[in-house]
Amino acid sequence: MRAILTTPPGEADEVEIVDLPDPRPATGQIRIRMVGAAINPADLHIIDGRGRDFVEGDPTGRLGIGLDVAGIVDMVGPDVHDFAVGTRAAALQFPHAPHAVAGTAAEYVIVPAADAAPVPDEVDLLDAATVPLNSLTAAQLLALLGPARSRRLLVTGAAGGVGGYVVALAARAGWTVTGLARAADADFLARAGAAESITTLAQSTAFDAVLDAALLNEVALQSVRDHGNYLGVFPRLEPASERGVTVTSAVVVPDGALLREMLTLTAKGILEARRVGTLPLDEATRAYRALRAGGHRGRWVLTP
Ligand SMILES: NC(=O)c1ccc[n+]([C@@H]2O[C@H](COP(=O)([O-])OP(=O)(O)OC[C@H]3O[C@@H](n4cnc5c(N)ncnc54)[C@H](OP(=O)(O)O)[C@@H]3O)[C@@H](O)[C@H]2O)c1
Repeated sequence: MRAILTTPPGEADEVEIVDLPDPRPATGQIRIRMVGAAINPADLHIIDGRGRDFVEGDPTGRLGIGLDVAGIVDMVGPDVHDFAVGTRAAALQFPHAPHAVAGTAAEYVIVPAADAAPVPDEVDLLDAATVPLNSLTAAQLLALLGPARSRRLLVTGAAGGVGGYVVALAARAGWTVTGLARAADADFLARAGAAESITTLAQSTAFDAVLDAALLNEVALQSVRDHGNYLGVFPRLEPASERGVTVTSAVVVPDGALLREMLTLTAKGILEARRVGTLPLDEATRAYRALRAGGHRGRWVLTP
């Protein structure tokens, strides 16, 4: 199969398409024939080397690229009962997971069946490919804050991949949500359920919690009331606590059951799947360049 890998360390900023043996699922695993693989800022972190602290490459130091996949299950390993060949499925897969042969930017992706979810008929597979990483991150981070109890939540980067889902899920859970984004994002934020959208942060500590998807760090923390909560998206980069604010961050983990909920909410139109466009694997470099240029809303999706 064709797959996109980083080049060995020292040649950062480059990816290559390699031919690998077609992988086969082991016990409890399924093989997804990729139809769409969204690209995310995390892919750039891995290409650039910043994310390599979190993952190890193959013996040459290369890493598979891509975390999101949607496609058709075309092989199932022993002891898989929830997925049959032919099922439309999506999953989050880490390139350093023991079962990973490459990233999701590959023709076939192996995942444990427990990490995957069926894609509802109403959701296009290319749209489904944009859902796993960012919706799971948003749902898992939000869960760390406990029940909403009508508290006020500030979301920075609120129109981004993670932030957009946080706004929608938090509003639905009963938070009063303020989204910090660009002026042009106001309509999206209103659709997602934000009570308010802002483009700059005032010098006040009005919020019970902030989810800092734009990595504004100290600036975001200053918006939180004494003994409130700061939630970061990048472990080890979060600001130091002050005024009794609890500072937490977390890294997403695959969760097939939660992903099924996220895809169901997508099918119902409660979560918006945002896709910028598609590009074939052979042109992945163009997609990474477009993402790097910034200002995107939604995801580029690679196709086989
Ligand atoms: N912890 C985890 O498990 C996990 C999982 C997924 C992602 N992440 C990390 O979370 C971060 C966000 O990811 P993402 O996918 O949401 O990125 P994204 O789609 O690029 O969104 C980031 C958003 O922040 C906005 N932004 C940046 N600075 C801003 C500012 N000063 N004021 C207003 N808006 C601002 C950007 O707007 P413009 O485009 O207009 O600049 C963009 O809309 C990344 O660092 C990613 O690596 C962590």
